[in-house]
Amino acid sequence: MPEMSAPPHINLVDPELYSHGDPFTQWRWLRANAPVHWQPPSDLPGFWSLTRYDDVRTAYRDAETFSSAQGILLRPVEHGADPGGGRTLALTDPPRHRRLRALVDEWFAVRSIRGLEPEMRGITRGVVDRALDLGSVDFVADVAARVPLYVICQMMGVPESDWEHLYELTSQAFAAGDPLTRRFAHLEILGYFETLQAAKAADPGDDLVSVLATAVVDGERLSPDDVLLNCDNLLVGGTENTRIAAAGGMLAFMERPGQWQALAGDADLLPSAVEEVLRWTSTATHIMRTATRRAEIHGQSIEAGDKVVFWLPSANRDESVFDDPDVFDVHRRPNRHLALGFGEHFCLGSVLARVELRLLYGELLGRSVRVEPDGEPALLDSIVVNGPERLPVVMKPGAA
Ligand code: HEM
Repeated sequence: MPEMSAPPHINLVDPELYSHGDPFTQWRWLRANAPVHWQPPSDLPGFWSLTRYDDVRTAYRDAETFSSAQGILLRPVEHGADPGGGRTLALTDPPRHRRLRALVDEWFAVRSIRGLEPEMRGITRGVVDRALDLGSVDFVADVAARVPLYVICQMMGVPESDWEHLYELTSQAFAAGDPLTRRFAHLEILGYFETLQAAKAADPGDDLVSVLATAVVDGERLSPDDVLLNCDNLLVGGTENTRIAAAGGMLAFMERPGQWQALAGDADLLPSAVEEVLRWTSTATHIMRTATRRAEIHGQSIEAGDKVVFWLPSANRDESVFDDPDVFDVHRRPNRHLALGFGEHFCLGSVLARVELRLLYGELLGRSVRVEPDGEPALLDSIVVNGPERLPVVMKPGAA
């Protein structure tokens, strides 16, 4: 790989880098020249950056040394410890993590998701019908956000009459923009699930909130707070990344009509296209761990308590693993990307997310829907998730 003579200024924690800049130049340089790179403290703690595929995978594999219990996302030091630390699925270490995961694993297994497919197809069809009626839409808000939200609401036992309300709240809670609006919307979501979990604890149904509200782990019921934090984990996990990946994939297709045509000509390509969308969009920008003991990576000593950050989009463009990593190719095989994580905390919703993407693109292709740009997309201003915040398009029905 050619070494670049002048190193770029490295600052991966500037949100604008992801909305208006080019993080790939920095990641490429880091992979080639400084695979274990120290980012000094700012309002965020200092941390080690891992940018190579193999290093991220190796660290992922060692959940004892690289713990999730103190948070998996960088957060300002003044915000203190993550409230979910040691309590939610994403923020616990083994052995408790395994026990929490065992409660819900079955719900997200291939067989269960296959059983849900007819309903998911109906939801997807309804969302596409509505967008076609509107014609001119924001693909993020009107299409990509709705499918995963309605599906996870269904799995969690949220009555259908409340889906639209939760859609409004999650749109406000996740949108970049006024932090106060986001905070209030999030509090309202928590309030909603507080009421729902109490109702499900008293009268359990066949849904995820009932599972959590009645769960016994290590001989004890989960506390109402723990149930709530885990519901939040499922709702956020179930919607945010899929929304951005679906929209980011659509953007990639609009920029490369040949790839969409290839897919239209051969439906068997859908599974590999979905993998390529996941790799290409790598919507989870970073995932953090905290070292529980001394470790060494490429001769660099990592001390107990140090934060270590995995940059997933960088790992997924590692030229030592992927041929032509900067090319979006629906035929790509193999495609062992890390967009859904790896190891102990591998994405619980991986099967669901893949099916959602397949059904959405399949629905558009099957009906020969034309999706055309209708203005400039806007990218998210965030170091946590990356991809389109807004994607204005015109959607037109295909020839009957
Ligand atoms: C394109 C869509 C998605 C992407 C890119 C994505 C990405 C990820 C990543 C990178 C992780 C690993 C976090 C870590 O290493 O600490 C993860 C974990 C998780 N994801 Fe997803 N995810 C997606 C869809 C979903 C869906 C649909 C759900 C449904 C509930 C979901 C729920 C979760 C949960 C609960 C975890 C924590 C699992 C654990 O810690 O054991 N995700 N996801």
